[in-house]
Amino acid sequence: IDIKNLRSETNGVVTLDPGYKNTGACESAITFLDGEKGILRYRGYAIEELAEKANFLEVCYLLIFGELPTKDQLTKFHNDIKAQSQVDEDVKKILDGFPKSAHPMGVLSSLTSALVAFNPSSVNVDSEEDMYKAIVKILAKFPVLAAWTYRKRMGLPLDYGGESLGYVENFLKMMFRKPNGEYKTNETILEALDKLLILHADHEQNCSTSTVRIVGSSHAGLFISISAGIAALWGPLHGGANQAVIEMLEAIKEDGGDTKKYMAKAKDKDDPFRLMGFGHRVYKNFDPRAKIIKKAADSVLETLGMDDDVLDIAKALEKEALEDKYFVDRKLYPNVDFYSGIIYRALGIPVEMFTPMFALGRLPGWIAQWREMRLNKEPIGRPRQIYIGETLRKFVPVEER
Ligand code: ACO
Repeated sequence: IDIKNLRSETNGVVTLDPGYKNTGACESAITFLDGEKGILRYRGYAIEELAEKANFLEVCYLLIFGELPTKDQLTKFHNDIKAQSQVDEDVKKILDGFPKSAHPMGVLSSLTSALVAFNPSSVNVDSEEDMYKAIVKILAKFPVLAAWTYRKRMGLPLDYGGESLGYVENFLKMMFRKPNGEYKTNETILEALDKLLILHADHEQNCSTSTVRIVGSSHAGLFISISAGIAALWGPLHGGANQAVIEMLEAIKEDGGDTKKYMAKAKDKDDPFRLMGFGHRVYKNFDPRAKIIKKAADSVLETLGMDDDVLDIAKALEKEALEDKYFVDRKLYPNVDFYSGIIYRALGIPVEMFTPMFALGRLPGWIAQWREMRLNKEPIGRPRQIYIGETLRKFVPVEER
């Protein structure tokens, strides 16, 4: 690179760092991550301990407000959320306008941005009090929208669940209650889902979170920033990987279960195939979330008395990759999404809903990062570039081209 070209027009030096591999964009007190040592902590608490002892709503509170809630704070928080769960009737009409085949992530992103029109007071929020109101609203309405995207797809009537249930249980009920009112769950399912949501709840400046922060930095409002975050999460290199992983594992199964063939494809630079669920921008040793999820997948399948060939294929791929020079040299290990789909599947959640499940989990992280960015009064996000196009050219009229 010609160093002279690294100067911007204002003559300041510009750092060129595609993909922001080494560029910090903010200071943050929310999530600590050490990719070499495989450490992940929310507000100082180890992810392993939170996954074992906390519930998802407590983790939401912790991430957003910085401390674990007291019993009273948690009750108030939950009550405030429950009081805001109604979604405007006209949002249902918008949902109705989507084809049944629409991917739930596109629908969810659109409905989340549509919420702005029905809650205009959530846009200009400068005081902590107004921020709290907007935060509670999105925490209340988002699971409703996520569950409804599923019900719409399945042709089921829309449902609000039940007043007395916990945040996660109510979400499941909103999704799965049959038109005749029948709904069944059990502790294993609830615990597994709570754990998965906690493990996905924040991951510092990943693609979708950076999107939320950068959109929010223009003071565009919380809901629309989250809608942009959902769009970013959809991609298969990010949250969409959980759907891609299970589809890949199923394709390998259909193809006779020859994992070695797919390992070879993943290493072939002329083949665009990548082993989905492997590799991570920051974890270069192991992903601590994957360790917890792998254990949870085993225990969910055992408790529910299910065998899953796809889990066997996943384990075989992991074993082969850990012994393979290509994967070892590049420090490619299973990430959080390698095993999450196996649990979602066992819980009866359809594959297109995997990424919306991730979005529900990541929601408190997006909110916490947006709130921190606003409270820190961060400037508008605006990366620089190195221009490599033409120098000044003279315009040629169309007849002379
Ligand atoms: N399979 C095969 N090779 C891979 C894989 C993979 N899954 N991931 C990375 N590599 C290779 C690359 O080809 C590259 O090889 P090279 O050095 O010979 O060119 C090297 O490993 C480094 O990969 P990059 O793409 O440069 O790493 P980056 O940090 O940019 O990407 C990412 C990380 C996007 C996660 C990548 O590993 C990937 O595509 N993984 C599969 C998708 C996936 O699981 N995404 C979920 C991430 S976790 C999350 O968002 C919750």
